[in-house]
Amino acid sequence: MEKIFLIDDDEGLIHFLSRFFERKGYEVTTCLSGPEAVRIIQHESFDLILLDYKMPESNGIDILTRIRAAQVKTPVILMTAYGSTDIAIEAMKRGAYDYLVKPFERKELSRIVSEALQVNRQMKEIVRLPDAEPDGRPLPISGELQIIGNSKKMQEVYKLIGQVAESDVSVMITGESGTGKELVARAIYHHSTRKDKPFIAINCAAIPENLFESELFGYERGAFSGAERTHIGKIERCNGGTCFLDEIADMSLSTQAKLLRVLQEGEFERLGGSQTIKVHVRIIAASNKDMEMEVRQGRFRADLFWRLKIITIHLPPLRERTEDILLLADYFLSRFSREYAKSVRYLSEAARKKLKTCPWPGNVRELENCIRRAILITTGDFLSEDHFIFSAQEEGKPLSRLSREQLMDRLRIKLEAIIPEVLHLSEDGIHANIMEMVEETLIRMALKECGGNQVHAAKLLGISRNTLRHRLKKMEEKSLLS
Ligand SMILES: Nc1ncnc2c1ncn2[C@@H]1O[C@H](COP(=O)(O)OP(=O)(O)OP(=O)(O)O)[C@@H](O)[C@H]1O
Ligand SMILES: [Mg+2]
Repeated sequence: MEKIFLIDDDEGLIHFLSRFFERKGYEVTTCLSGPEAVRIIQHESFDLILLDYKMPESNGIDILTRIRAAQVKTPVILMTAYGSTDIAIEAMKRGAYDYLVKPFERKELSRIVSEALQVNRQMKEIVRLPDAEPDGRPLPISGELQIIGNSKKMQEVYKLIGQVAESDVSVMITGESGTGKELVARAIYHHSTRKDKPFIAINCAAIPENLFESELFGYERGAFSGAERTHIGKIERCNGGTCFLDEIADMSLSTQAKLLRVLQEGEFERLGGSQTIKVHVRIIAASNKDMEMEVRQGRFRADLFWRLKIITIHLPPLRERTEDILLLADYFLSRFSREYAKSVRYLSEAARKKLKTCPWPGNVRELENCIRRAILITTGDFLSEDHFIFSAQEEGKPLSRLSREQLMDRLRIKLEAIIPEVLHLSEDGIHANIMEMVEETLIRMALKECGGNQVHAAKLLGISRNTLRHRLKKMEEKSLLS
């Protein structure tokens, strides 16, 4: 359970915030005075701290500095009164993660808090490299991730990580989807001299282009309509730390130009601002696209690419290191068995053979999801080959008609793969949308599998044809509205 520490002398607000967070399933500790809060943080660790800036008998900046010293990685969100934005920005320079202007809305609170908690998770969950002794079985420790694989190609990867981690150079990570690029980026961070500084991951493809630049570089109040307060961008927030730019090929050309300036001169301006801000951020970029092709076709700046690619770590697809498949399978088996409180202990010989010969087009992520799913559905203490059903395409055979069971399995795999991401997003309001989205995905997949035949699709989904028709009508109305 994630732990939140609330520090404010306003008892009413403390009461409201405690209830708000407890309902969401967080463990909450509260404190009404600064000096007392400083005592508490000496012996208790938290995942997030909300700190009121203005309290009697204490200076907010001083409290912040002491919290930062005691809990380097815990994000601190400063709460300030209207009109004290300058103080808040000063506090961010001293290591606060973000600020909230009182009175704030629940939506704003939720957004900032869930973002900060996500950053906290990524900073605190250590990614370990394999030990020098490769024959020890991987033993996952909770709160830690481990990079698994003994193949020669992976050994090369570990060597490179070791060589570059401690230097401050930018790193480019390439490889197909699901090969572990993000994991490697996090490993570099955890082994770097910046490991006590912020780590922020940004997916360049996930944020709409018109918002991306302001997310990255921030904006001044009044920079555009709706910019009610100064917003500190991720780059500035990450000062001194490491910024992971995932799917960098999707970054627009104008943002690329600004990023290049950050890399070359260590400076930028917030949107709508004239003041030049100095930063020192280490960039780790990743892409599953052919970057040279992107450059040739004019979608990616050549100068930025040259600057990023000086150190390139390429992650081989799983099919090129088949000797790692079973190591990974065993690792995921023990991890998920513990995570889902199951006592699954091993893979049958036939299952091992099946896993080893699958081409794994989705790489490690696909293998991980396969094992996760098998552990969830099994009732015994081992996994047999029947727990792993691949589509004919994946097994290299021509496509044949699949049974209903097999179709359902594939639907489940697709959904299970997105569940963790969905759960991290789930918040008031967003929840309903997500359920709708999942439902629609399921319906679309079922229809596709059944060649558009509604009777079959309804049967596959286990709902009546009428229900399906009703849902389809709703989907149609929605798409007309949007
Ligand atoms: N060598 C490995 N050992 C253990 N787990 C791994 C390894 N490689 C990948 N994984 C796991 O597989 C999943 C996918 O990895 P990751 O997200 O790093 O891939 P990616 O290359 O960033 O993929 P994409 O391009 O689709 O974003 C993650 O859950 C990660 O923890
Ligand atoms: Mg990734």
